Amino acid sequence: MIHDRTIEPRPGIPWNVRRATPADLEAILAIQQGSPEAPAWRNPTWRQMLTMDQAGPLIRVCLVAEGENGALRSRCVLGFCVACCAGEWSELESVATVVSARGQGVGRALCREVMAWSRGQGARVMELEVRASNGAAQALYRSLGFADQGVRRNYYQDPVEDAVLMSAELLMAAGTGVLA
Ligand SMILES: CC(C)(COP(=O)(O)OP(=O)(O)OC[C@H]1O[C@@H](n2cnc3c(N)ncnc32)[C@H](O)[C@@H]1OP(=O)(O)O)[C@@H](O)C(=O)NCCC(=O)NCCS
Repeated sequence: MIHDRTIEPRPGIPWNVRRATPADLEAILAIQQGSPEAPAWRNPTWRQMLTMDQAGPLIRVCLVAEGENGALRSRCVLGFCVACCAGEWSELESVATVVSARGQGVGRALCREVMAWSRGQGARVMELEVRASNGAAQALYRSLGFADQGVRRNYYQDPVEDAVLMSAELLMAAGTGVLA
């Protein structure tokens, strides 16, 4: 059984990371809408992912970062990250940060946690695909130990674009224990 523990904000880090719940759906969809580089999953897909049980060979985790968002002065979802895992393999499926909170470490913290979670599930490697033009995401992934593994020609639609395939060894992946 996975115990959810919220990582509370630390000095200088005004947000925390926790497992997403169905109550986060609206906020997640809004961030996704403002992040056309991320997969455009529909409401029912998200709903299923946020309510799924963890039985079967493929297991998935959805995390959100929650904190104050500038002028709003109220706590809200600042970003999300989704990964799945099957045996020694895992995939980082999506990550996005609300535009106004980018560049503050939210994306990296979310990715670190799903990498640590995947390692905890027994995965040894994490893979992902990213648009060839998405320099920000590629820089984020490289900073986390991902390396290029190849290119999948014309993989994406609207607009058509190549995918860069990346992977990282998870042997050293360490998070703060939000899903310990
Ligand atoms: C990619 C994305 C998730 C990064 O989120 P973020 O919260 O801004 O990222 P962080 O602040 O944690 O940045 C971590 C690292 O990513 C890289 N990075 C982030 N934004 C960058 C940018 N605009 N240009 C270049 N590098 C960038 C840097 O290496 C950065 O480390 P540094 O701050 O030490 O230089 C965010 O830009 C986003 O939501 N983009 C739209 C959705 C998307 O592209 N998802 C990936 C689909 S595969």
